[in-house]
Amino acid sequence: MKRAVYPGSFDPVTFGHLDVIRRASEMFDILIVSVLDNKAKTPLFSVEERVKILKDATWHLGSNVQVDSFSGLLINYAAENDIHVAVRGLRAITDFEYELQIAQTNRKLSLGKLDTVFLTTSLEYAYLSSSSVKEIASFGGDISQCVPDFVAKMIYEKYHI
Ligand code: PNS
Repeated sequence: MKRAVYPGSFDPVTFGHLDVIRRASEMFDILIVSVLDNKAKTPLFSVEERVKILKDATWHLGSNVQVDSFSGLLINYAAENDIHVAVRGLRAITDFEYELQIAQTNRKLSLGKLDTVFLTTSLEYAYLSSSSVKEIASFGGDISQCVPDFVAKMIYEKYHI
């Protein structure tokens, strides 16, 4: 069984993430989308909320997509779950340096046991990021093209809009 992890903050999941999830789920027997519980950041949604949102947004993809969360190092989470591939999306050249550093660090730290594969995001989502979605929503802007409707509703509720 080919298993892969798609780690991220997913605060919250966007159509760009969902595009990567759908495409990666066709490449692996099991794709575990795992939310990083990063104590150093103050997210809009709790880890539990992000996991629930991801489950609701991916249920239609079937049982080879699973949703989980982790804290600490990705390489430890991967080793504990017998996963040797991480999936990440690349939107533009500006993502590349950051992603390359994480991927190389993970490969080095894991002694070659965790490799990273990149999917280029579909062009229509190249501009999307969770932070810009939150910023637009916080000013009452339209995010209907960025996230599923139920997610948009939850974001507006957080901003009391
Ligand atoms: O969605 P994000 O915030 O860009 O995802 C970043 C993520 C979660 C992939 C990365 O920060 C991560 O894996 N953090 C866990 C800590 C870790 O393993 N750090 C070592 C690699 S630098």
